[in-house]
Amino acid sequence: MDIAIDLGSDRTRVFIENKGKVLDEASVVTYDIDTGEIYAVGDEAYAMIGKTPVGVKAVHPLDGGVIARSELVEDMVSILLKEVCSVKVVMPRVITAVPCDVTEVEKRAVVNAVSSFGVRKVYLIESPKAAALGCSIDITTPHGVMIADMGSGTADIAVLSLGGISVSKTVRQAGSAMDEEIVKYVRKKYNLIIGTNMAESCKKAIGCVIVPAEQKTFRVKGRDAVSGMPRFVDITSAEIKEAIEEVAAAIVNSIKDVLEKTPPELTSDIYTDGIILTGGLAKLTGFARLISEATKLRVRVHKNAADCVIMGCGKAIGFIDEADKNSALGISPILAAY
Ligand SMILES: Nc1ncnc2c1ncn2[C@@H]1O[C@H](COP(=O)(O)OP(=O)(O)OP(=O)(O)O)[C@@H](O)[C@H]1O
Ligand SMILES: [Mg+2]
Repeated sequence: MDIAIDLGSDRTRVFIENKGKVLDEASVVTYDIDTGEIYAVGDEAYAMIGKTPVGVKAVHPLDGGVIARSELVEDMVSILLKEVCSVKVVMPRVITAVPCDVTEVEKRAVVNAVSSFGVRKVYLIESPKAAALGCSIDITTPHGVMIADMGSGTADIAVLSLGGISVSKTVRQAGSAMDEEIVKYVRKKYNLIIGTNMAESCKKAIGCVIVPAEQKTFRVKGRDAVSGMPRFVDITSAEIKEAIEEVAAAIVNSIKDVLEKTPPELTSDIYTDGIILTGGLAKLTGFARLISEATKLRVRVHKNAADCVIMGCGKAIGFIDEADKNSALGISPILAAY
């Protein structure tokens, strides 16, 4: 039995062959700073962010789609996998997604983290390729497909054809950078200090990159920067747009860069089919329209945007045997095996 893991900056998702997606939890670890003892992982740890006592920290150990704190990621992966894998799964093969511009050092860190669970072999696949498979697109044909997988730590943009990547760009600032901008905005405008979880809830509830006709408000609660007392402010969609628009613009500009570098034959395919958006951030109000207006192309958000990469990694399990037989990997969607 083989396993697929999408080790995201925001969420960790696990797919088991013949079972489907079995786990979707926050990529967060709560640990003791002195002893390194792990108190909680996943959603339980997410709820502790900003609420831990002295000496205990709740952190996202992945940042920008790569491993920032390897020892914590290793613990998180093995604890989460133990929850969903029965003891019968002995030394599985594991396929996992990485950003397109992943370095050798970053690849090693992912392989080590996943191996901590005790696996036979680890296979890597680039996130946009996995996302395309998750959208049920046949990426092995000579036809250009453009995917932007927009998550928390990365926006991974690629043009795919013949099982490979023709042009790509990874922006290492996405959803979580927006949350940080919201924190800064509220602090500067209202002298109110809020946490990143509050900022994320606000972004999900009323965040937008094009202000909708009917504006919404969201009550953000925090601590007054001057008096130190608890306070709230009702913030509007237009204000959130102002806070996050620079991060959004950087992603849109990178999509345009990728299009400019795309060979003309593939461009014509993209002109016909449009761009597909996946990842949690694709759900941000107005993002698809903003990209469409900037590129003059059709832009579509996949209905299960946040699950495309893990479902695609699950499908890529089907390519493992072929990749094992052919060490050169050929036009297999799998990037590397360790
Ligand atoms: N409805 C929504 N509106 C706006 N943003 C959303 C919404 N749902 C999720 N997000 C954001 O999407 C991001 C998470 O997306 P996703 O699960 O694809 O990330 P990830 O795979 O963990 O991260 P990465 O691939 O960047 O390492 C978070 O920043 C989250 O706040
Ligand atoms: Mg992701």
